[in-house]
Amino acid sequence: MKTLQKCLFPLAMALAISAAPVSAQNYKAVDIKPIDPSYFIPKRHEGRTYVITGGARGIGAASAIRLAREGANVVILDVLAKEGAETIAQIRKEGGKAEFVKGDVRNNADVQKAVDLALAKFGELNGALNAAGVMSATAPDAPFDYQKQKSLFPSPIAEASDEYFDTLMDINATGVFKSMRAQLKPMLKQGKGGAIVNICSIAGLTGLAGNSAYVASKHACSGLTRNGAIDYAPYGIRINSVNMAATETAMTAMATEFVKAANKENAGSDVVNMGRTKTLSILAFADSKKRQATVWEQAAVICFLLSDEASNLTGGLYATDGGWTAY
Ligand SMILES: NC(=O)c1ccc[n+]([C@@H]2O[C@H](COP(=O)([O-])OP(=O)(O)OC[C@H]3O[C@@H](n4cnc5c(N)ncnc54)[C@H](O)[C@@H]3O)[C@@H](O)[C@H]2O)c1
Repeated sequence: MKTLQKCLFPLAMALAISAAPVSAQNYKAVDIKPIDPSYFIPKRHEGRTYVITGGARGIGAASAIRLAREGANVVILDVLAKEGAETIAQIRKEGGKAEFVKGDVRNNADVQKAVDLALAKFGELNGALNAAGVMSATAPDAPFDYQKQKSLFPSPIAEASDEYFDTLMDINATGVFKSMRAQLKPMLKQGKGGAIVNICSIAGLTGLAGNSAYVASKHACSGLTRNGAIDYAPYGIRINSVNMAATETAMTAMATEFVKAANKENAGSDVVNMGRTKTLSILAFADSKKRQATVWEQAAVICFLLSDEASNLTGGLYATDGGWTAY
């Protein structure tokens, strides 16, 4: 049997290679251009108010900025005070309305504070973007130190520390639950419907080598999205998620450092590195610079899902992933 397998394996490889498309030499290769960061749809969110967790930087900040450009009032809740103040300042400088609450999505009182501020300042709450999330149990602004922080970084199940697993579940899963609960209550009371978008991940759709807690917590995020969609459709509230692959933010910069350090430490090992099974989305692979998605590409889908243009969409887990989950 083994001999047969040995013979068939090269044959199967040869067939696979010959079945691969020949490069289309007569066609010009074209990179897909990311959306212009300054693009927005005027007045699309006019007068609406949104709470945005994790809106101090990254995808949450880009979405807050674009929502404000489209006429929305935004209240950002984040642990990062300096970045939060900078994002608020940028929105106000452009003429938008924004407030900041320094707080943690693990804490009910903080989450409630953001909702209460939205109601006090702007009169009602029309929706939310739950963007707060982490890939490792290190603080979002902690400088990278592989040796000191190793037990807090992504690990397969047998090697994962309680702190890594519990922190990710607390922020990415329970934090989304606590945020949605606090956001939904006033929206239900108002009786005007609304929309919520949760930021999950491709890790909320598939497995991702070595990221046990991230995958578990992001699948929970996808689950909360689907269940919320069922329970609140009768009240005019739509709930969707965006599930992206690598997007250029501080989080992916840290992940790149981590992978480099881990690969260095494991160099010479003959154990199969499952992290190499799939490293790029279709779009990143096809791109001449192998670029990641931009935060503005994510914000474009988020702002659409929150808008009335998405009136038929609820309970959807949108793979904003450059085709990662297509193969
Ligand atoms: N960048 C990617 O490639 C990628 C891929 C898939 C999913 N995501 C998800 O996108 C979301 C945004 O991440 P990002 O890439 O913009 O990274 P980011 O680190 O720039 O943004 C995350 C934000 O969440 C905040 N935050 C973290 N823990 C918090 C807590 N306990 N309470 C309140 N705020 C908290 C951080 O301070 C930061 O401002 C996350 O949920 C992340 O898991 C990102």
